[in-house]
Amino acid sequence: MTENIQGSNTRFVHAGQEFEPHTGAVVPPVHFSTTYAQEAIGKLRNGYEYGRGTNPTRDSLQAQLAGAELGKHAFSFSSGLAAEDSLIRAILRPGDHIVLGNDAYGGSFRLIDRVLGAWGIGNTPVDMSNEQALTAAIEKNKAKLVWVETPSNPMMTITDIAKVAQIAHAAGALLVVDNTFASPFLQQPLTLGADIVVHSTTKYIGGHSDVVGGAVIVKDDELAEKIGFIQFAVGAVSGPMDAFLTTRGLKTLGVRMRAHNENAEKVAHWLRERKEVERVLYPGFEDHPGHDIAKKQMSGFGGMVSVQFSGGEAAARKIAESTKLFTLAESLGGIESLMNYPSEMTHASVKGTELAVPVNLLRLSVGIEDVADLIDDLDRAFGAL
Ligand SMILES: Cc1ncc(COP(=O)(O)O)c(C=O)c1O
Repeated sequence: MTENIQGSNTRFVHAGQEFEPHTGAVVPPVHFSTTYAQEAIGKLRNGYEYGRGTNPTRDSLQAQLAGAELGKHAFSFSSGLAAEDSLIRAILRPGDHIVLGNDAYGGSFRLIDRVLGAWGIGNTPVDMSNEQALTAAIEKNKAKLVWVETPSNPMMTITDIAKVAQIAHAAGALLVVDNTFASPFLQQPLTLGADIVVHSTTKYIGGHSDVVGGAVIVKDDELAEKIGFIQFAVGAVSGPMDAFLTTRGLKTLGVRMRAHNENAEKVAHWLRERKEVERVLYPGFEDHPGHDIAKKQMSGFGGMVSVQFSGGEAAARKIAESTKLFTLAESLGGIESLMNYPSEMTHASVKGTELAVPVNLLRLSVGIEDVADLIDDLDRAFGAL
């Protein structure tokens, strides 16, 4: 049903969301059953056997995610990191190597370095905009995976997906893109040459800060078979209620992202005019080093804005603790505005490493509230400096 549907919003609403044939229920019911009656030993009804392997609510989310990213196969997990862990273990073996951006999300780096490192997976962080360094790191380590986050969390670095795909493929590596910050409404990495997309669906896809989840999406059947096997054999699947909430969130992704884009742009411009601000990291600014690439590969600049303060750590901390509408909290991508101090919160695990985040930086996840109220909130907080 999804092949002929062109528009993102139509795919978000309809892919995998056929009405339930028994009653005609337009919203497919949530299936909580962990097991399924067999007609005879091993004779399954439509392939359903046991909830870790298949569940209709998860299947419908997976079809929706595949449609959203213009992929062929999607796998839904209990968190973004569970998705990343299963993906890496599906593809790599001890002795294999990952080249990743040197400003990757701290939790992804912790998983790759501290967890999978102990099981023999090597890693080299590189500046993804440095083609020579990237090529050298892949070739020297015979890397099998290149891992890109664009925009990156929280430095808002933009990486040219098509170019990195070419470099990775020429050296025999696969390209993974973590598309969490952009969301499939603004960017579809599989259409730009990436082999695999991962998401923390906890963020924009879920969209309401009420469900933790992750996803892996691919086009290739052989890759899908390997990932499907690990999903089943390891079992970090999303539960039915989580799958339902994620599906419900994804249906409205397009309308939410438009509001996030608009609000973030206004907030970024307002911040840039403040004398207390040293730098605003936002790919929508023409002088952002990744602006032209972002314009080429994204259909909007997203809802994330990072800001560095001339008053250093003390100023960043004061603002973080002074806003009222921007809630000081981990996570991002929900309808409500959040403020995060990465060096002590989301990225505390990479303190002291090459991936450490500046101590004068705050990350804003700009929500869909009325932007005048958001700016008033920031203005009042700036008054506390
Ligand atoms: C870019 C990015 N990737 C992956 C993750 C991990 O996802 P989760 O927290 O759902 O495990 C996060 C979480 O913040 C993230 O920001």
